[in-house]
Amino acid sequence: MTPNPILGCGIGLRFQHIDQILADKPPIPWLEILSDNYLTPGSVQQDYAIEVAEYYPVTLHGVGMSLGATEPFNDEYFQRLKSLADQVRPAWISDHLCWTAAHGWVSHDLLPLPYTEETIKHVVQRIREAQDRLERRLVIENVSSYLQYQESYLSEWEFLSAVAEEADCKLLLDVNNIYVSAFNHDFDPCKYLDSIPIERVQQFHLAGYEDKGTHLLDTHGQPVSDPVWGLYKLALQRFGALPTLIEWDNNIPSLEELLAEAHKATEAHIHAFA
Ligand SMILES: [Fe+2]
Repeated sequence: MTPNPILGCGIGLRFQHIDQILADKPPIPWLEILSDNYLTPGSVQQDYAIEVAEYYPVTLHGVGMSLGATEPFNDEYFQRLKSLADQVRPAWISDHLCWTAAHGWVSHDLLPLPYTEETIKHVVQRIREAQDRLERRLVIENVSSYLQYQESYLSEWEFLSAVAEEADCKLLLDVNNIYVSAFNHDFDPCKYLDSIPIERVQQFHLAGYEDKGTHLLDTHGQPVSDPVWGLYKLALQRFGALPTLIEWDNNIPSLEELLAEAHKATEAHIHAFA
């Protein structure tokens, strides 16, 4: 069966809202399911995800592939993710351009990579393998970061573009992450947007950050900030009114407040071309 189309501005599915969503079936264009929380076969959580997907178009979004790592992929993780995908029929599966594990140690942060040709080769091979395992093209997201490697000689946008072209994958541009990293590393976020191949971009993320004075922290705990709305408008003008998702992971608001934030993104779609 063909997945339902993903159109407009959706929200991330959070446990706090599932009962309300299933009871009231509010009009939500689409939902992003955090795949790693729903991987256990037969669990209450997975049953919820399957039920939600009966009523709404969904995508699967994860943090567990560790595409930049050097250890072999976790077979069980991919088997479970594929099984979940077979049941909820997501329009696409996304994960991040980062690494999260090394030598048995697992980070709960999405760690950036050194931006070099050698890393491009490595990550491209990993994305291709992940795509083969899941039997679909992946959508890869840019992460926010607070440090850079001395070894990096490419810009993040050069690295991201090269990976997408060579792995033949799509991109999820997190506009908040671009803004946060641009502030932290003192680069021009508009140059970043202008350098990404238009046809590779499939989706946007929007989220809130915290201003720590010396740096911006990607907290996903508050409304989208005004500068990010401004950058989002430029992204819409360059890439078109692509599906957009509000990410809110801490201080999770009511479903109504979350939907109101998604509505602001819908308004931006309308006004970007006015
Ligand atoms: Fe994101």
